[in-house]
Amino acid sequence: MDAYFTDLLIAEDEALKAAVADSDAAGMPQIAVAPNQGKLLHLLALTQGATRILEIGTLGGYSTIWLGRALPAGGRLVSLEYSPEHADVARANLARAGLDENVEVRVGPALDSLAALESEAAAPFDFSFIDADKANNPHYVEWALKLSRPGSLIVVDNVVRDGSVLDATSEDPAVVGTRRMFELVSTHPRLTATAVQTVGARGYDGLLLARVTG
Ligand code: SAH
Ligand code: DHB
Ligand code: MG
Repeated sequence: MDAYFTDLLIAEDEALKAAVADSDAAGMPQIAVAPNQGKLLHLLALTQGATRILEIGTLGGYSTIWLGRALPAGGRLVSLEYSPEHADVARANLARAGLDENVEVRVGPALDSLAALESEAAAPFDFSFIDADKANNPHYVEWALKLSRPGSLIVVDNVVRDGSVLDATSEDPAVVGTRRMFELVSTHPRLTATAVQTVGARGYDGLLLARVTG
């Protein structure tokens, strides 16, 4: 079904195809969002009217390109990536997509980059996509919230992980982090949220969507 949707609905151009090919050639794990998921992020950011986008977890910049293409002229996307090697590949992929003016990849542990972003006191982000080390998911949601405004949208990837997130006894840091993130979101007075399971080219997983309230 993902191939069917993608053939019919998702016009992946050369820049997107080359971003995947060059990420693979660099030996990166094949964990970028699927094309139809990338287009979903793009449509959500467009619907949001986002002019400022935050991404946590760049990899080779595949999701970054989809999100960057939702920006209006003069819009800005900041994508945070731990690995300098990943960031180099991503920057080349973003430049080929013509997005180097609008997109900045910042290297380092995202928690450090987020603190730096706060100290810069820039305008809030309209849209955040959290897709890095899952153990830090609760911290990333707190930071995304801190850097948001009422009406901002926060999306978290990989919140199902083959259903392993249901296991309250799990010691897998990704599961523990994602479950803590759900607890935080479910009790937070400034977030209203839902989560959906997905199945397809990236297996059985899911997305959480949270809107920042007043
Ligand atoms: N969003 C990308 C996929 C990201 S994969 C896409 O869909 O195309 C997760 C990325 O998070 C990897 O590149 C990994 O290096 C990065 N990462 C892991 N831990 C991190 C951390 N502490 N800070 C920032 N990035 C981190
Ligand atoms: C993993 C990370 C991702 O962001 C993803 O989409 C799929 C898998 C992982 O670390 O296993
Ligand atoms: Mg992911």
